[in-house]
Amino acid sequence: MIGFAMCGSYCTHALALQQLISLRERGLEIQPMMSENVYATDTQFGSAEELRRKVREICDREIIHTVVGAEPLGPRTPLDALLLCPCTGNTLAKMALGITDTAVTMAAKAHLRSDRPLVICLASNDALSANLKNIGLLLSRKCVYFVPMRQDDPEKKPHSLVADFSLLIPTLDSAMQGKQYQKIFV
Ligand SMILES: Cc1cc2nc3c(=O)[nH]c(=O)nc-3n(C[C@H](O)[C@H](O)[C@H](O)COP(=O)(O)O)c2cc1C
Repeated sequence: MIGFAMCGSYCTHALALQQLISLRERGLEIQPMMSENVYATDTQFGSAEELRRKVREICDREIIHTVVGAEPLGPRTPLDALLLCPCTGNTLAKMALGITDTAVTMAAKAHLRSDRPLVICLASNDALSANLKNIGLLLSRKCVYFVPMRQDDPEKKPHSLVADFSLLIPTLDSAMQGKQYQKIFV
């Protein structure tokens, strides 16, 4: 079973859903998760209810969306891997600093107790400013892997990095072998 946790980078949810479908097409069992924000927030990119419906339909499972729901995802209910897709700057920073106050950060903390792969598919406007040090901290953490990232709009958003979502599955495959997919920056 693979965990698929979605954070509030709403503009990348369509890309994340494509990857979720590809994972299911590979025959994988997926436990979906959402941060509390994603589970409840309507934006110009879509309603929370619609997103929840699609994710439930693709995974054929209920969505974990609370700290209490995510807490067993450690040694008690182990996942083979946990994907954060998309991961926000907010969740990245919390993980780097050991803060555990959302369903997704709880899932990450519980999962890492078992030294199993955690794959971060980042999309953040402050990845090259406030969050750059946190990328560095997490790159050096055991069992944490990054989907290759690029500057998506260097002129207008000079501090932004967005992962190449199409490399999520190759990154997962490498992570399952204990290796960071290369290159990290595309
Ligand atoms: C429409 C909209 C789009 C957003 N896009 C992003 C994004 O791409 N990356 C990001 O790091 N934060 C983005 N945010 C901010 C996060 O949603 C916010 O930091 C939130 O607290 C994240 O919570 P979570 O990490 O628990 O999901 C966006 C917010 C809104 C309302």
